[in-house]
Amino acid sequence: MASEATSSRRLNIDNINPHVRAAKYAVRGELAVKSEEYRARLAQGATDLPFDTVISANIGNPQQLDQKPITFFRQVLSILENPGLLEKKDVLIEHLGYKTDVIERAEWLLKEVGSVGAYSASNGVPAIRKSVAEFLERRDGFPANWQDIYLSAGASSAVNTLLHIICADKNTGVLVPIPQYPLYTASLSVLDAQCVPYYLNESTNWGTDLNVLKEACEKAKAEGVDVRAVVIINPGNPTGASLPESDIRAVIEFARQERLVIIADEVYQTNVFIGEFISFKKMLRQMQKEQPGVYDNIELASLHSVSKGMVGECGHRGGYFELVGFDPAVQQEIYKFVSIMLCAPVIGQCLVELMVNPPKPGEPSYDLYRAEYDAIFNGLRERANALHAAFEQMEGVECGVPQGSMYLFPRIKLPAKACEAAAAEGRTPDEFYCMRMLEATGVCVVPGSGFGQEPGTLHFRTTFLAPGTEWVGRIVKFHQEFMDKYRD
Ligand SMILES: Cc1ncc(COP(=O)(O)O)c(C=O)c1O
Repeated sequence: MASEATSSRRLNIDNINPHVRAAKYAVRGELAVKSEEYRARLAQGATDLPFDTVISANIGNPQQLDQKPITFFRQVLSILENPGLLEKKDVLIEHLGYKTDVIERAEWLLKEVGSVGAYSASNGVPAIRKSVAEFLERRDGFPANWQDIYLSAGASSAVNTLLHIICADKNTGVLVPIPQYPLYTASLSVLDAQCVPYYLNESTNWGTDLNVLKEACEKAKAEGVDVRAVVIINPGNPTGASLPESDIRAVIEFARQERLVIIADEVYQTNVFIGEFISFKKMLRQMQKEQPGVYDNIELASLHSVSKGMVGECGHRGGYFELVGFDPAVQQEIYKFVSIMLCAPVIGQCLVELMVNPPKPGEPSYDLYRAEYDAIFNGLRERANALHAAFEQMEGVECGVPQGSMYLFPRIKLPAKACEAAAAEGRTPDEFYCMRMLEATGVCVVPGSGFGQEPGTLHFRTTFLAPGTEWVGRIVKFHQEFMDKYRD
């Protein structure tokens, strides 16, 4: 690699921001790059690969994997992008199957938003923030203040904003679950702040263990870290775990005792197969009601997104965060921070409105919306179960039942010879396994080390978004051959 002295360019790999270099983001790492190379080779007609399709099971990107967009959403967006269509309402209705509620919603949004080609207010279109507040009230049964809602370019940008505000210096610590979606560790790396990891409990299907959380916090404090916030991903990525009420209560109580800001990443709130989703906001309001005064000082930021669930519109970059209990002066700075980026994509903001306010029973678009929504939900659940059943049969593989989100995170026990072969290649055993899987099957998954895992354990994460189950058979066959090859 060229050093500063030898390179003629002003910027080289040794003098750019070292914190960017230090950040790791495995879901789009080496395996993903290689899978794209395979895809390109197949597209050019290559016949020398042992598979004929590449399956991107590495990233929760539903529409890349053939999930169809919900018709109502896209019909409204089409009018927002091209308001001239409103001059041909008869064509929309009689020839293109648009229902009257599509047109009414588009007209309302155009009235509130103006042109989707214009910047909006920095924290989002007020009418859309009001729709989000009404959704939160319906969801939780407690009031929500629209002025505490900030529309964002997906949850990623919300996390970026919050961590920028929270991380004052390199001594600031944020408790992050392990395994976790690497956005958190990567962003903390870039900000040169401290990630304080706490392990989720695999034996209780990735529950949040309060003692572990406390220990991690105590250890960091003893090392002089200023622990300020705790991240909870519920339902979990990569684990799929959906937190029960008791765990949520325990985390809120812990945050009170330790004076921690809670960042509740709830982007998978509709991807729940077992039990029901309970929001941190609802639980906090409930606890405030039960014990007046005790939880008044809790600071909670909760996030949601159009990327996941049955919406799956991650390319549109829409989301929001709601702040509860934040100091108004801090909120002013958050407003200033988001203004520096001007505003979230306005079409993405409109999708947030459609997500939180979809057609209601009795409205013209409802039946189709419901049918599409249910088909996506049921398809995800069926594929999760098929994948889980396959993992159950595989030697040395253990996997909890699918509970939610879009992922399974099986634990794998690999033979010592496989670990030696991995070391000889300079890879961790799980990276080695996933690389061989990609080469043999075209299925791209992410090694557990990309999310963090307890020392001595190995995992991989796969989405269950790809259509069909043929690719699952490829994994089963590969696994058997891999184990046979490296068996001690
Ligand atoms: C837990 C979690 N949070 C946040 C995100 C970011 O989502 P987006 O920025 O697309 O809303 C993801 C994406 O996979 C995720 O899994």
